[in-house]
Amino acid sequence: MDICMIGAGYVGLVSAACFSEFGWKVSCVDKDKDRVAALNRSDIPIYEPGLDELLARSIAGGRITFTDEIGPAVKAADLVFLAVGTPMRRGDGYADLSYIYDAITELAPHLNSFKVITTKSTVPVGTSREIERRIRKLRPDADFAVCSNPEFLREGSAIQDFMHPDRVLVGVDDDRAKMVLERVYKPLALRNSPLIFVQRESAELAKYAANAFLALKISFINEISDLCEEVGADVQEVATAIGRDRRIGDKFLHPGPGYGGSCFPKDVSAVIRTAREARTPLSIIEQVQIVNEERKIAMGMRIERTAGGSVRGKTIAVLGVTFKPNTDDMREAPSLTILPLLQERGAVIHTYDPQGRLHGESLLPGVKWFVNVMSACQYVDMVVILTEWNEFRAIDLKILKEQMSGNILLDFRNIFNPKDARRAGLAYFSLGREK
Ligand code: NAD
Ligand code: UGA
Repeated sequence: MDICMIGAGYVGLVSAACFSEFGWKVSCVDKDKDRVAALNRSDIPIYEPGLDELLARSIAGGRITFTDEIGPAVKAADLVFLAVGTPMRRGDGYADLSYIYDAITELAPHLNSFKVITTKSTVPVGTSREIERRIRKLRPDADFAVCSNPEFLREGSAIQDFMHPDRVLVGVDDDRAKMVLERVYKPLALRNSPLIFVQRESAELAKYAANAFLALKISFINEISDLCEEVGADVQEVATAIGRDRRIGDKFLHPGPGYGGSCFPKDVSAVIRTAREARTPLSIIEQVQIVNEERKIAMGMRIERTAGGSVRGKTIAVLGVTFKPNTDDMREAPSLTILPLLQERGAVIHTYDPQGRLHGESLLPGVKWFVNVMSACQYVDMVVILTEWNEFRAIDLKILKEQMSGNILLDFRNIFNPKDARRAGLAYFSLGREK
C-alpha cells in the first residue's frame, strides 16, 4: 500500500509516521519547503512526544519520505490523504477550505490510476461531495473516489491516540475505496480498534459533533466549578461523583481557564455556521462558545482580584502558556487572551513554558521568558499556573515561596493540594475548591 499524505503538520506527520510504522510506504508532501528540508535532515518541526523516535525508525527503514513535489507522490499512491489546515476563516467564522481546494487542484493532474482521496482534515459536512465535483470538473477522465476519514487524535498524546483509537471512522460510498481503507487500517482492526463505515456526510458531521460535545463538557464543568466556589462544594469531588456514571463519563471534566487549541474554537465556530446555514441553529453550542470566550476574560479578572484588586506595577510569573501540556502549539491558547489583559492593566509578566517559547515569543510581546520555573518566579508577587505541564507538579513549594517576593499562588489547573501549598507559606487559590 502506497500512501501520499498531503500536509506534514500535527495530523499529517503523526498519521504518516504511524502508517509507516505499520509497514506502509508513505510519501509526505508539504508545500512549506523549509519544513520539508528540516524533515529531510531528520529535524522534526513540531513537538509531539515520541514522534522523533517513530519517524527515525521509518526513515531508517526507508518507509517514509518527505517532498514538496506533489506529482510523483500522488502518481505512486493508492491512497491520498488530505491533512492540510482548515482554520477559522477571518471575518465570518466558517472553516477556511482554501488549503483543501488548493491541494486538490494541485493533485488532480496526477491522477494516473484509481486513487482513493480521503480527507483527514476536519471539513464541514458536504465537503467530500464538493471535492469530488471539483476533481471531476478538472479531470473528467480520472478514476477516483473521495472519502472522509476524520481524525480524533489529541496533541500531546497523538501517537497513543492514533495507535489505540476509540474508533476509526470512515465515510465512504464506493466499494473499491472501502476495501482500500479496510486494508490500510487492518493493523488497527487486528488490535480490536473498531472500524466504523458510514456515509460521508455522517463522518464529516460526527467529527464536528464530537468536538462540540467535548467543548460543551469543558464549559459545563467550568460553570459548575464557579458554582462550587459560591456554595462551598469541591468541583473535583463533584466531577468524580458524576463521572462514575457511565452515561456521563469521567473524562473532560477538569475545570480550567477555558479551552483553546487549533481545533475546539474553530470547529465550534464552524459547526455553528453550518447549523445556522441549515436553519437549525445549535443554540447550546452557540452558548458554549460564548461561555468559553467569557471564561478566558474572567480568569484574567480573577488574577487581578486575587492580586488584591489591581495588578499595576506587580510582577506575575505565569507557568505554562501553550493551550495544553506536551505540545508547542500556541493556537488559541488562553494565555493569548489572559496575558495581554494583565499587561494592559499594568502587570509585568514573567513566563516559563517547557516548549512554548518558540511560537509564543512573537505572539506575546513584552513578556519576559525564563528557562526554568525558579528563575521565572524570582522576586515575583504572584505565580499563576496556566498549563499543567507535569514538571510543575513536582515543584517544591517551599523553595518556590523562598524565590518570590509575594506569596500568592493561583492554580488554574488544580495541580496542587491546598494543604501542602499553605504549609509552604503560600496563599493558595485554585478553581472550584474553596474561595
Ligand atoms: P497544521 O497547520 O499543523 O499542518 C498543516 C500543513 O499542511 C502545514 O505544514 C502546511 O504547510 C501544509 N499544507 C497546506 N496546504 C498544502 C498544500 N496544498 N500542499 C501541501 N501541504 C500543504 O495543521 P494540523 O493541526 O495538522 O491540522 C490539519 C487538519 O487536521 C485540520 O483540519 C484540523 O482541524 C484537523 N485535526 C487536527 C488535530 C490536531 O490535534 N492538530 C486533530 C484532529 C484533526
Ligand atoms: C481535541 C480533541 O480532544 C481531539 O479528539 C480532536 O481530534 C482534536 O481536538 C482536533 O479535532 O483537533 P486537542 O485540541 O489536541 O484535541 O486537545 P484536548 O486535550 O482536547 O484539549 C483541548 C483544550 O481543552 C485544552 O485547552 C485543554 O486544556 C482543555 N481542557 C480539556 C480542559 O480545560 N478541561 C478538560 O477536562 C479537558
